[in-house]
Amino acid sequence: MGKEKFIVTSALPYANGPIHLGHLSGAYLPADIFVRYKRLTGADILYICGSDEHGVPITITADKEKITPQEVIDRFHNSNKNAFEKFGMSFDIYSRTSLPIHHETAQTFFKSYHTQGLLTEQKSLQFYDEKAKMFLPDRYVEGTCPKCGYEEARSDECEKCGSLYDPKELVNPKSKISGESPKLKETSHWFFPLGKFQERLKKYVDEQNKKFNWKDNVAAYCKGWFKDGLKDRAVTRDLDWGVKVPLENADGKALYVWFEAVLGYISATKELFAKRGEDDEWKKYWQDENTRYIAFIGKDNVVFHTIIFPAMLMAWNDGNKEKFLLPENVPANEFLNFEGKKFSKSRGWGIDVEEFLNLFPADSLRYALASNLPENKDTDFYWKEFQLKNNSELADIFGNFINRTFTFAHKHFNGQVPELGQLKPIDNEMIQFLNDAPQKIGNLLDTYHVKDAVFEIMNVARAGNKYFNDSEPWKSIKTSKEECGTTINICLQTIFTLAELFEPVIPFSSRKIFLMLNTRAVKWSESGKMNLNSGHKIGDAYILFTKIEDAVIETQISKLGVTNEIAEYNPVQIDYEQFQKIDLRVAKVLSAENIKKSNKLLKLEVESVGGKRQIIAGIAKHYKPEDIVGKRVVIVANLKPAKLFGLESEGMVLAAEDKNGKLELVSLSDEIATASKVK
Ligand code: MF3
Ligand code: ZN
Repeated sequence: MGKEKFIVTSALPYANGPIHLGHLSGAYLPADIFVRYKRLTGADILYICGSDEHGVPITITADKEKITPQEVIDRFHNSNKNAFEKFGMSFDIYSRTSLPIHHETAQTFFKSYHTQGLLTEQKSLQFYDEKAKMFLPDRYVEGTCPKCGYEEARSDECEKCGSLYDPKELVNPKSKISGESPKLKETSHWFFPLGKFQERLKKYVDEQNKKFNWKDNVAAYCKGWFKDGLKDRAVTRDLDWGVKVPLENADGKALYVWFEAVLGYISATKELFAKRGEDDEWKKYWQDENTRYIAFIGKDNVVFHTIIFPAMLMAWNDGNKEKFLLPENVPANEFLNFEGKKFSKSRGWGIDVEEFLNLFPADSLRYALASNLPENKDTDFYWKEFQLKNNSELADIFGNFINRTFTFAHKHFNGQVPELGQLKPIDNEMIQFLNDAPQKIGNLLDTYHVKDAVFEIMNVARAGNKYFNDSEPWKSIKTSKEECGTTINICLQTIFTLAELFEPVIPFSSRKIFLMLNTRAVKWSESGKMNLNSGHKIGDAYILFTKIEDAVIETQISKLGVTNEIAEYNPVQIDYEQFQKIDLRVAKVLSAENIKKSNKLLKLEVESVGGKRQIIAGIAKHYKPEDIVGKRVVIVANLKPAKLFGLESEGMVLAAEDKNGKLELVSLSDEIATASKVK
């Protein structure tokens, strides 16, 4: 049998923002682990990725920042590429869809569809923003639903009542880009007949699913789309930024970004081989039916990889001699959330990869993410869990096992692998366990159960520690050096096995361990054998994993939800005299009671400057009356009296909101006298 041949791709991230941990868990880390594992088995594998550099969001970012789209993509292409590198992603190429080779490739596909007569030109009315001088994609138009009056309805559908309507009917349309009211303007676009491919696509998905056991979530998504019925899709847009439509009379038109981005996998492969001076080599992968193509993505990308991309490839194959392969499997992951919520740059929720890797080693992050991948359901990244994974598993289990073994080997065996003596049952069991581990873990990785595989790998380290403990080499060294040597020999073999099995997950550490062992990896299937000869000289021990202190984690947690709004803080300024006009005073709460008919207000009697006064405060949802009696709070004492629910309020109490919207009164200790001025 020849070598297994693979193309592996990870979704091309938009060059419109930094990647975050959620992206890594979705489409990148699992693919990298799979690829690294396959390389160790000796497979011939290409790992392809790059930036997705077209689409409207990029032009909007450019307008906002008053720079060109090219500057936007250059910035994020480079920073994402660096972040991936620091994270240890082992792409064979990290390309970009702005390259000429990609534009040519995408245009060639489009032209083939066109000459085959597949595309139809259809006229329609679309919203045009005269201020921004552009046609508006659906999600950039908002208006009032003609059916139910919902004010945030889309141009042709209402999320609230679910009705579909003609964009003409949308009431009060607004452009989300300029805020102006856009005009409907006629435009024409080319449509791809997805519906025509429905039966063949269904057959393709069913067959692959059966043969390669697609993930349930992926199969379920596909089923849903087939049930709804596939419709023709507009595959061009009125946009300057993108791959130009390669036809006459198509000025100002670009290919719809998804209709070319997926082809980026192919053009990136072309670029890879062009760089090596082997221009046609890429065909040996994409156009050889013995290649297995696996597309790693996040769940929001499923339709594009199981339906649209395959349909595009089928359509090409119908009209051309050279036939492309279709994905064998699309192991899509669910999402990773961050401390219980969605990642959100604007709300300061989450952390960029680059920032993370400036603080912590890549392997610690890789291990923590890999053992918590959202393979079947959404999962969460928690800082405390990250700390625990690093400290209690990498450092305490794995690191410690290596450390105690190396210490023993250097102290008692001159830094050499001791002879293997007479084997006891416990030794034979360990040897057998090591022997079985690579295949067991390989099977899990072959079926994309990466999380389970990682658990099993750490179990080898757990077993190593247990074997060390049960064998008690610190005792046997005094009674039988041979027996002790046997134990240490097997522990060193275990470290070898671990260095290899862990390579896909924590490659930086694996490399160090092989250096420490003064040797290199073997074929995956051999990695559970006794690979170190007795007498082999090992190197010095390095520190592999450092523990992360509580304080470091606390600092990160306290940063959550803090946005860089301060940088954008742009208030109406007041001068000192104006400030002095506000009379802030300490007030003691004498009594408090609920107000009938209002669940928001409390009636307070307080003592402050000028004696007692009544204040109606909107804090009933946050404080019970009895909780605040006796408190010293801060009031605005010279606020003009007002009537609330028919009750007079003379002043206002100060409070601040926590991140969940809960109010907390500004309060002072009893040391501060009632009526003191707050300055
Ligand atoms: N840029 C898309 C995203 O981040 C993924 C594109 S995958 C591709 O969701 F294949 F179409 F490029
Ligand atoms: Zn509606």
